[in-house]
Amino acid sequence: MMTVLVGYASAHGSTREIAERIGIRLTESGVSADVRPLGDRTTASGYSAFVLGSAVHSRRWLPEAAAFLERHRDTLAHGRVWAFSVGMPAALRGPWRRFAGREEGIVRETFGPLPGLCEHRLFSGVVTREQLGRVGTLALRLLGGRTGDYRDWAAIDAWAAEIAGELRAAGEASASD
Ligand SMILES: Cc1cc2nc3c(=O)[nH]c(=O)nc-3n(C[C@H](O)[C@H](O)[C@H](O)COP(=O)(O)O)c2cc1C
Repeated sequence: MMTVLVGYASAHGSTREIAERIGIRLTESGVSADVRPLGDRTTASGYSAFVLGSAVHSRRWLPEAAAFLERHRDTLAHGRVWAFSVGMPAALRGPWRRFAGREEGIVRETFGPLPGLCEHRLFSGVVTREQLGRVGTLALRLLGGRTGDYRDWAAIDAWAAEIAGELRAAGEASASD
């Protein structure tokens, strides 16, 4: 069975914890996984399946995650890629929820060509006063939102289980070819 690269970019740690959780769940499901921060020296070679995630700042992936996609576009095109973004849709309330519904597509458009992309999910992460600063926290409150840990671990586990299922199915298919 192949090893999956679970690569992440995280400014304040919530995306890293989601990546670590996905790595644990994949491993428990019999899919071996390397969980690594996406940086200049992170390599894509040797992998044919990728779970790549980033915190979202201003509706984009963090620069190191975007740079990884750019640098390894050819390798990623020959493999299968599951992408996840970590933002704060669940922190928003009322009419702003409708904007949150569009965020997944807006972030995905910034990826550029990624033919191996199987799926992109937008998860909610952690929103704190320290991250947003006084002005940002006030802005969030004015929009009816609240700071907090909005991670939905059941949804994250379910997604990891789906990925593991698809990889196992693909592995079995190629083994019986
Ligand atoms: C400067 C800044 C900009 C952000 N911009 C967005 C955004 O455009 N959309 C969104 O959904 N969340 C946004 N967020 C929320 C973060 O993506 C969210 O808190 C996430 O959990 C952070 O992940 P991390 O802990 O791995 O850094 C922003 C947070 C910060 C600090």
